[in-house]
Amino acid sequence: MRFCFGLLVAALAPSIFAAPHDMQSAREILRRNDNVAECGGPTSTTTHRKKSYLDLEKRAATTGTCDIQQAIQHMDLTAVTPALPSPAADLTLFQVTIGRGTQNYTCDLSNATAVPVPLGALATLYNFSCLAAQHPALLSKLPTIALDLPIPTANNTDPAVIAALESGHHYFIDDFTTPFFNLDTAAHQYGMGAMAKANASDAPSDAVIGPQGQTGYGAVQWLRLVPAPDQGMWKAVYRLNTAGGDAPKNCTGQPAAFEIPYAAEYWLFV
Ligand SMILES: *[C@@H]1O[C@H](CO)[C@@H](O)[C@H](O)[C@H]1NC(C)=O
Ligand SMILES: *[C@@H]1O[C@H](CO)[C@@H](O)[C@H](O)[C@H]1NC(C)=O
Ligand SMILES: *[C@@H]1O[C@H](CO)[C@@H](O)[C@H](O)[C@H]1NC(C)=O
Ligand SMILES: *[C@@H]1O[C@H](CO)[C@@H](O)[C@H](O)[C@H]1NC(C)=O
Ligand SMILES: *[C@@H]1O[C@H](CO)[C@@H](O)[C@H](O)[C@H]1NC(C)=O
Ligand SMILES: *[C@@H]1O[C@H](CO)[C@@H](O)[C@H](O)[C@H]1NC(C)=O
Repeated sequence: MRFCFGLLVAALAPSIFAAPHDMQSAREILRRNDNVAECGGPTSTTTHRKKSYLDLEKRAATTGTCDIQQAIQHMDLTAVTPALPSPAADLTLFQVTIGRGTQNYTCDLSNATAVPVPLGALATLYNFSCLAAQHPALLSKLPTIALDLPIPTANNTDPAVIAALESGHHYFIDDFTTPFFNLDTAAHQYGMGAMAKANASDAPSDAVIGPQGQTGYGAVQWLRLVPAPDQGMWKAVYRLNTAGGDAPKNCTGQPAAFEIPYAAEYWLFV
C-alpha cells in the first residue's frame, strides 16, 4: 500500500508545492481508497504506470459528489496584472478543468528576422471540479504537475479514470482564429462553444516556463474569453494558472511549424 502511494507522490515533486499544506492534501487525497488490489503488488510495474495525477480528482470527492459552485470563491483573478474581470454574477460555474496539450506555432523560414506566430492549440480537458471546490491550493499546482507528466493515455493511466474525468477537447476553428471548447464526447454531451479573447494578462513571473520547470520559453497568458458572435454553450471561459506553452522569442533554429507543451486550468461558465 505504501509503495503504491509513494509512487504518485514522487511524481508530485515536493519542490513545486509552495506550501507544505498542498503536499499534505495531495497525500491525504491519495491515501483515500488506496489498496493493494488497485495498485498492484510491489512487483507490478504495469499497474504502477496506471496511476496518474487524474487520480487526485477521482479521490477528491469522498462522497462521490461535491458543490462545484464553492470553487468560485477560490478563483484567483488578481495574481496577474491587470487582474482579470470577475465572471458576471448571473453566470453559473459549469466545470473546472485541467487542460493538457500543445500550443502550435509557425515560423517563416524565408525571413531571417521572423518571430513565431501562434497557430492554434490542442488540449484535452479533464474535470477537476471537486478538487477545485475542496482543495484550491492543490488545483493551482496541477497544471505544473500535468505538464511534467505525459498526456494521459491508456498506457499510463487507468482507462476507467480517463473515462470518468475526460470532459472534452479545446482546439481552434475558422482557420485557427477562434478558440473552441467541445465537451461532447462519445461518453457524454455537455455542449460546445466558440469563444473570443476579451482580456489577456501575462502569467505571474514565477509561472513555470516548461516541463521540469526548465525546458521551455514561458507560460502562456491568463485569459478571459467571452462568447464568439455565433455563440454556443459557454458564457465565459477563463484560462488560469498556466504552465508552459510560450514560443521562443525568435525563429532561429526553429522548424516551419512546431508545438510547445502546456497545461492550464480552464473554468467554463454557463
Ligand atoms: C520578417 O519578420 C519580421 C518580424 O516578424 C517582420 O517585421 C517583417 O515584416 C518580416 N519580413 C518579411 C519580408 O516578411
Ligand atoms: C465534474 O465533476 C464533478 C465532481 O465529480 C461532478 O459533480 C460533475 O457532475 C462533473 N461535471 C460534469 C459535467 O459531469
Ligand atoms: C501504448 O503502448 C503501445 C505498446 O507500447 C503502443 O503501441 C501504443 O502506441 C501506445 N499508445 C499510446 C496512446 O501511447
Ligand atoms: C476586459 O475586456 C473588456 C471587454 O473587451 C473590456 O471592456 C475591459 O476593459 C477589459 N478589462 C480589463 C481589466 O482589461
Ligand atoms: C534568438 O533567440 C535566442 C534565444 O532564444 C538568442 O540567443 C538569439 O540571440 C536570438 N537571435 C536573434 C537574431 O535575435
Ligand atoms: C498543431 O495542432 C493541430 C491540431 O489543431 C495538430 O493536428 C497538428 O499536428 C499540430 N502540430 C503542428 C506542428 O502543426
